[in-house]
Amino acid sequence: MKNICVIGTGYVGLVNGTCFADLGNNVITVDIDENKIAALKRGEMPIYEPGLKEIVERNVKAGRLKFTTSYAEGLKDAEFVFICVGTPEGVDGEADLKYVRAAAETIAKTMDHPLIVINKSTVPVGTGDWVADIIRKNQPKPIDFSVVSCPEFLREGSAVADFMQTDRTVLGSLDQHAAEAVAQLYLPLRAPIVMTDLRTAEMIKYASNAFLATRLSFINEISIICEKLGADVIEVAQGMGFDKRIGHHFLQAGVGYGGSCFPKDVAALAHMAQTHGMHPQLLHAVMEINAFQRKHVALKLHDLLDGSLKGKTIGVLGLAFKENTDDIRESPALAIITHLLEQGAIVKAYDPVAMENALEEIPAINGCADPYEVAKDADALVIATPWNEFKQLDMVRIRDMMKTPILLDGRNIYEPRIMQSLGFTYRGVGRGYDGAGNSQPGD
Ligand code: UGA
Repeated sequence: MKNICVIGTGYVGLVNGTCFADLGNNVITVDIDENKIAALKRGEMPIYEPGLKEIVERNVKAGRLKFTTSYAEGLKDAEFVFICVGTPEGVDGEADLKYVRAAAETIAKTMDHPLIVINKSTVPVGTGDWVADIIRKNQPKPIDFSVVSCPEFLREGSAVADFMQTDRTVLGSLDQHAAEAVAQLYLPLRAPIVMTDLRTAEMIKYASNAFLATRLSFINEISIICEKLGADVIEVAQGMGFDKRIGHHFLQAGVGYGGSCFPKDVAALAHMAQTHGMHPQLLHAVMEINAFQRKHVALKLHDLLDGSLKGKTIGVLGLAFKENTDDIRESPALAIITHLLEQGAIVKAYDPVAMENALEEIPAINGCADPYEVAKDADALVIATPWNEFKQLDMVRIRDMMKTPILLDGRNIYEPRIMQSLGFTYRGVGRGYDGAGNSQPGD
């Protein structure tokens, strides 16, 4: 059992703090947002993350998990302090480190005993050294501390499971003893631990996210070629994936990647490369393909609806950037909706948990109570997020309710042949082959 302080109750801080408490540690989570802390104390979660609420409740009840707005209270008995604050995208794609700076300064001013400071936030290579510098400069009197980089690899929507069944832990530090102490916290997870220096650990995080984003842009580009040539991207990905060097993960073509990580991290890595005089061509291509993939949906609709979206009613199923989350940051669904609204379309939409967030962001969306209300009188229906509850809808009912049965399946959850046999004009992503030996009509 260790005493851990976690700074930040966003998705990273809350999941990590709660999971460390669940492993038997004493965790105190600090956030300067009084409303958030008050809500957490009442048992209300600031984010939707499957399974999280139950584990928070269990650990609060057991006295292992506490919430506070006070750094002094958080750091009082702590041996480890995790910095888990946001690093939003700055003006030129660089990571904005204002929250990391504020956390480091406050830790420095508050600490009264030696600490191991662990950076979980995704930060540009070199930030670990910078954080150490800030702490050193802001300490009223010198007290020992070490900085360890421990990048985050959790996925939203499956974060608790990802923490408990992690593939690996990466620890970077110039202080071997500090890194080994942090490694002890991760031993119960029985996963490989990669020990390296600070900058390499920071780079592993960016390289991992950029690689996954590259896979997605690759398969999305292949999907467009498939559409033109009459091949089926799902089967292409399957066929490729059996090669052990390739694998099946992260090869689902769709409406492009979104979320709070890939878009920001690819941009930040490109920015870092550029500021060091390099021209990161691949990263730029990854971002360009991703932007096009979203636009492609609007272009397809444009074609299917006789060249104009003006006054047309488009139903959108799914608003979150992926399933099992209420996060709408960089959501492809919202990017598509913005394109549609710009073209004069009327947009109706439904999402099981992200409605409130999305309506706040784009008030012009007509929020609906369920997928059938979305389909009612729609000129076309777009599936933008692959929520399970969209996978077995009563498609006959949907067809009969729509003004024109046009289905644009941005996540390939339906079978083209079946949808066509039901009378839909169906377009998936990269599904150029209709199952009867022909390219999709009109392609
Ligand atoms: C991503 C990484 O997967 C995590 O390892 C990392 O910790 C996290 O970023 C982060 O840096 O914090 P996340 O953004 O939660 O996690 O979601 P992913 O599951 O990676 O999905 C990202 C986007 O790609 C979503 O829009 C998703 O719908 C899309 N996607 C994913 C596809 O279009 N096809 C796929 O095959 C997989």
